[in-house]
Amino acid sequence: MSDGHEADRVKLPGEALGVDVDSVVVLDFGSQYSQLIARRVRELNVYSELLPFDTRWSEIAARKPAAVILSGGPNSVYEEGSPHPDPAIWTGGIPVLGICYGLHLMAQGLGGEVASFERKEFGPAVVTVIEQTGLFASLDPEQAVWMSHGDSIERLPDGFRPTARTDSTPYAAVADPDRRLYGIQFHPEVVHTKHGRDILRNFVVEIAGARQNWTPAHFVTANVEEIRRRVDAHSKATGTDGKVLCALSGGVDSAVAATLVHRAVGDRLICVHVDHGMMRKNETELLAKAFDQLGVRVIIVNARERFLRKLEGVIDPEQKRRIIGNEFIRVFEEEAAKLGEIAFLTQGTLYPDVIESATSDKEKSASKIKTHHNVGGLPDDMAFQLIEPLRYLFKDEVRAVGTELGLPDSMVQRQPFPGPGLAIRIIGEITEERLDTLREADWIVLDEIKAAGLYNEVWQSFAILTPIRSVGVMGDGRTYGNLVAVRAVTSEDAMTADWAKLPYEILARISSRIVNEVPGVNRVVYDISSKPPATIEWE
Ligand code: XMP
Repeated sequence: MSDGHEADRVKLPGEALGVDVDSVVVLDFGSQYSQLIARRVRELNVYSELLPFDTRWSEIAARKPAAVILSGGPNSVYEEGSPHPDPAIWTGGIPVLGICYGLHLMAQGLGGEVASFERKEFGPAVVTVIEQTGLFASLDPEQAVWMSHGDSIERLPDGFRPTARTDSTPYAAVADPDRRLYGIQFHPEVVHTKHGRDILRNFVVEIAGARQNWTPAHFVTANVEEIRRRVDAHSKATGTDGKVLCALSGGVDSAVAATLVHRAVGDRLICVHVDHGMMRKNETELLAKAFDQLGVRVIIVNARERFLRKLEGVIDPEQKRRIIGNEFIRVFEEEAAKLGEIAFLTQGTLYPDVIESATSDKEKSASKIKTHHNVGGLPDDMAFQLIEPLRYLFKDEVRAVGTELGLPDSMVQRQPFPGPGLAIRIIGEITEERLDTLREADWIVLDEIKAAGLYNEVWQSFAILTPIRSVGVMGDGRTYGNLVAVRAVTSEDAMTADWAKLPYEILARISSRIVNEVPGVNRVVYDISSKPPATIEWE
């Protein structure tokens, strides 16, 4: 895409967002929790960015962050080749918080000593606070925390003193308040640390003095302005009407992105929804209605038969994904061509995608489990300029922005749904009849989950149509029917997930309704696998 590079270059928060916000830089040393730290800071209404550990100090300082946080990481600071930050970070005058490996970096970088620790701590622990000031101001003297470390501080650098300890380590937290340098051995970002949020708040807001001015309303106003300015400038320069195109999938991200852009450019936005026939029951109709009410122009392309034909006889999951991804692009291009000259394309890219694409290709290919086809993920050679208003947001922030924009809860709180849709929830061949069966079963799962008030509690809940048939008895007769599986998971970010411990009564209702209301199904099972080793979707 023509301005991909422009979007990737380093931007200061104010410049990127068009607003005056305070920010916190989180340096990523490879912890599985790095993103979570950035999210927790955002939850304090302070903008935060996750940057690679080797970002030069000049680049960090240019962002004028209120504070810097060093994440944990899998290495030992004394190992050769272990990741270290630019040492100028210790003398830059900006408050620094080191978490776990980040604490070790701080201790070592300032003249202390870190060594392998014989009493390694993994999991829950209790810390005793020595000084109820700084990070621990107004917090309990004894606190449950989450530990995960094999190394520990042996000797503190000059100027530091311990502020909390556990039975195993005298240095569970340390501080040099004069230089505003703080370190903690445990993980404040995970929910198991009781006062994790308060500790981060004490650091970011009280110690570093960051203003809590990162709000959805602020974001919407600034972005609407910025998008309008950009589109207007382009149409003025080219003498065109500056049309903006958006692929609407039915999910939260594209819906929020489209609504935001619509606020900025009104009728110059044209949305295209490709109905590939793999949507859930009534989904396309609901989408059309919601956007009609918002006054957004949506072209619904009924491409159901076309997709079904392409998928005939296909059972391999990756092949299904490829076919749907490619066909989607074709249909979308055909529709775009009918609309005349279009300058901009809106995409619902989120911050985690941006972080992810910053990792090396090697890393990515090594960890590829399945190809995620984001319907809306369009080819690089389309000659559009990109508008990606959600590029700096996490999912929960996208939902808050959606609410701010007046989108209905039914759309904003929607559970994630994969681009290839029901195609990867039908194991085996996809036919019209099997799609109908799954759609009905899926509807019942969601209906019951919603009725029980659990829809927002679980990350995803859905039905899967398996290729298994089994014997049953209905009335006085033998049946040989389909097996439907039900899956419901809890998760923070879809990277890991646990099966949801749904009450038996709800499972019973789902099961009995499916066998009674969905023709051809005589057996229902509940998937009790977590991720890993299973994945959330079955294909
Ligand atoms: P898995 O099944 O890999 O899924 O545990 C993790 C999350 O990603 C969603 N998912 C997809 N989303 N295109 C998408 O846009 C895809 O091809 C795709 N496959 C899985 C899945 O629903 C879950 O939220």
